[in-house]
Amino acid sequence: MADIRTTAAVAAPETQPSTEHVAIRREDYRPPDWLVPEISLDFQLDADRTIVRGTLQVERNGDHDRPLRLDGDEIAALSVKVDGADADWRMDGPALVIDLAGDRATIETEVEISPAANTKLMGLYASGGMLCTQCEAEGFRRITFFPDRPDVLSKYHVRMEGNATLFPVLLSNGNRIALGDAAEGRHWAEWQDPFPKPSYLFALVAGDLEANRDSFTTMSGRQVDLAIWVRSSDLPKTQHAMDSLKLAMAWDERVYGREYDLDLFNIVAVSDFNMGAMENKSLNIFNSAYVLADQDTATDADFDNIARVVAHEYFHNWSGDRVTCRDWFQLSLKEGFTVFRDQSFSADVGSPPVKRIEDVRVLRAVQFPEDAGPLAHPVRPDSYIEIGNFYTATVYNKGAEVIRMLATVLGPEKFRAGTDLYFSRHDGEAATCDDFVKALEDGSGVDLSAFKIWYSQAGTPKVTARLEHDAAANAATLHLEQKVDPTPGQPVKAPMPIPLRTVLIGAESGAELAPERLIVLDEPRQSVRFDNVSELPLLSINRGFSVPVVVKAERRPGELERLAQTDPEPFARYEAIQELMMRALVAGARGEAADSAPVVAAVAATLQSNSLDPAFKAEAILIPGDSMIAERMDEVDPDAIHASRESLREAIGTGLSGALLGAHRSDGVEGHDLSPRAKGIRRLRTVALGLLAAGDPQQGAALAKAQFDRADNMTDRQGALGILASLDVPERQAALDAFYERFQDDPLVLDKWFALQAAAQRSDTVDQVLRLAAHPDFTISNPNRLRSLAGTFGGNHWAFHSPDGRGYAFLADILLDADKLNPQVAARLVPAFGRWRRFEPKRAELMRQTLERIVAAPGLSKDVFEQVSKSLA
Ligand code: PHE
Ligand code: ZN
Repeated sequence: MADIRTTAAVAAPETQPSTEHVAIRREDYRPPDWLVPEISLDFQLDADRTIVRGTLQVERNGDHDRPLRLDGDEIAALSVKVDGADADWRMDGPALVIDLAGDRATIETEVEISPAANTKLMGLYASGGMLCTQCEAEGFRRITFFPDRPDVLSKYHVRMEGNATLFPVLLSNGNRIALGDAAEGRHWAEWQDPFPKPSYLFALVAGDLEANRDSFTTMSGRQVDLAIWVRSSDLPKTQHAMDSLKLAMAWDERVYGREYDLDLFNIVAVSDFNMGAMENKSLNIFNSAYVLADQDTATDADFDNIARVVAHEYFHNWSGDRVTCRDWFQLSLKEGFTVFRDQSFSADVGSPPVKRIEDVRVLRAVQFPEDAGPLAHPVRPDSYIEIGNFYTATVYNKGAEVIRMLATVLGPEKFRAGTDLYFSRHDGEAATCDDFVKALEDGSGVDLSAFKIWYSQAGTPKVTARLEHDAAANAATLHLEQKVDPTPGQPVKAPMPIPLRTVLIGAESGAELAPERLIVLDEPRQSVRFDNVSELPLLSINRGFSVPVVVKAERRPGELERLAQTDPEPFARYEAIQELMMRALVAGARGEAADSAPVVAAVAATLQSNSLDPAFKAEAILIPGDSMIAERMDEVDPDAIHASRESLREAIGTGLSGALLGAHRSDGVEGHDLSPRAKGIRRLRTVALGLLAAGDPQQGAALAKAQFDRADNMTDRQGALGILASLDVPERQAALDAFYERFQDDPLVLDKWFALQAAAQRSDTVDQVLRLAAHPDFTISNPNRLRSLAGTFGGNHWAFHSPDGRGYAFLADILLDADKLNPQVAARLVPAFGRWRRFEPKRAELMRQTLERIVAAPGLSKDVFEQVSKSLA
């Protein structure tokens, strides 16, 4: 397919003013000029040539004389009718404009689209023989002309017709109201959704699919039919997703009082998908990676992710669909809240402390760097060029942290009163983040206005803490200070309210000296007094990670060591161990003498503890990754960081080989046992093995090969292969080949094979990755495959930052190739270059040059343009 924009721009640049790189600003929001209470869509489906007829009932909204503007994107009108007659219309760039005299009209449009040629995977596209849609955020305008914005809510009637053999299953939102046969081997179905919804929640699926069917009885006794649609050969891999869905439905009733509102709920798995999954009303469409699992092909982490994403999309039915967003700047209204809800769900069905550790790790690994770099933006952004670039860790994960913080401040009962009010007050509406906070305030009776700055101010606050003990007065004083560094567009920052769960622990007794307090630091500096401090106190602060900040606490000698062994709050204890590790790692990377002894002792105590469970042990002894260490450095030298981390791993591996071997060998679980305990034992088995291999690569390789060969589940198999992939041993290639031979026909497992090699900590990883990009099973058009190779490599700190710049060249080349097909997915590779200014001068210059090369490429998408130009600014 010819690139329409490039052709037009070359033919007549001056008559085609570029609307591509214009920033949309939140402060320019205006209610829609025209509403569309009802829409009827008719699809004549065909992979190459689909005809879409849209019938819109439009209504003037307010007193104005502006024309009707219908968004379009790479579509052309074959015909346009107003109230049944040919009418005057014009194109303004991609939009269709019609002057209407009255306050109401019926608009009929007809367009032709090609799902098979749709490589952007936005709008109606083909994937593995089926047709499916993705409309969030602005994909609906690639299907039909429409005011494609979330505050225009419509009732949908959909009729679709297609070949009955190719597309035996025809699905859309709501209820199926009719179906029948048509001429020439075609058939049709009609669907109607009783709930008004924004266009981004529209969905359609046509394909040769089979369903895992089940049902759920809601709290009011209604029966809901559930179906998970996949290719028939994948049916045996759908049970975990189904079980997760039923758990999620029950959980939302119990915890939020939210009942499902239709008589059926469908999930469809597709192999080509830009993101994880999509919450279309009653027709969720999923990346198959978040549906399909069995013990042989999916790891414990995959199982957990499936439960998490199934729950996330289901929870959107209330936080997203029933109450939607007024505009895309409010994206965190639904995403931050829904992530918070899925995190709570996963904690409840698993281990709360381990889940908290995992969530904070993601936040620190992805969101903190984002918030400190050139792409930093508030949870509620102020402007965007391409909204697809704002599905970020800040909007999702920091957004969830902000809601968690509000829930902590309110306590469970008041928080629930607030969310109840939010759902009832805004049901059927398009709301804002301010509306959400207001509902929490009105429902709880608590003034939360000071916390709103968390939505508008970007950057991670830095808190310094110093505890002073006055033994004579039996008192202690905690001196706190906060600071937020400038971020793009926000040079000066205001102080923020920072609620820190804090307790003092007796250095001798190891006991909490008083009940935990929630200290809200809301001034630049503040001092807090503690009385009855009868022994030397240790500071346990930001417990449970009550607020997303970086805490730098002044520690007296031995304090972290003691906290690492005594703090009864699991997250705080984990923090103390991690902080000990971080000290050694940073010192090593700076070339200072790094004392690994305290870390080795803390890891030993953790492994030997009888009170800690294996999953917690595994998390606690995991060494922070290179990029986390990089965040702590003034100037990033990837080689020095890598060497420091390797030497700490080696010290632990050699110093604790006995204890690690014990943890590695701890057994008594079946590979098919998915209980939290069994998962924890498997996780510790592999984490311990990784450290053993760091101490003794030969022994590690033998043990890893044995684990690999013996494995009756993917967790053990992938864990072992991941360790072998970084070693220079003969077992490595043998295992990689065996894995490939066995799983080459399973795309999701093959993704793992690519990812494991792209993640390898080896000096030749760049060469391996270049070879893999030429492998017959590599394809740039499948987002999962592209992410497994290029995305994983971009996150492999040491290899990507290879001093010769070949890692940068590889990622830039593949990113530019991908951009021609799928800009949204290509743009997600850019942040790997984002923090170039922090690197040692040679790499910084190489990265800058690479960004310059990307931005100069002809025909660049606005998605990539926005990310690269901001990275250079
Ligand atoms: N809204 C989806 C979610 O649940 C994410 C998504 C965004 C999917 C855009 C596809 C496209 O988080
Ligand atoms: Zn979501």
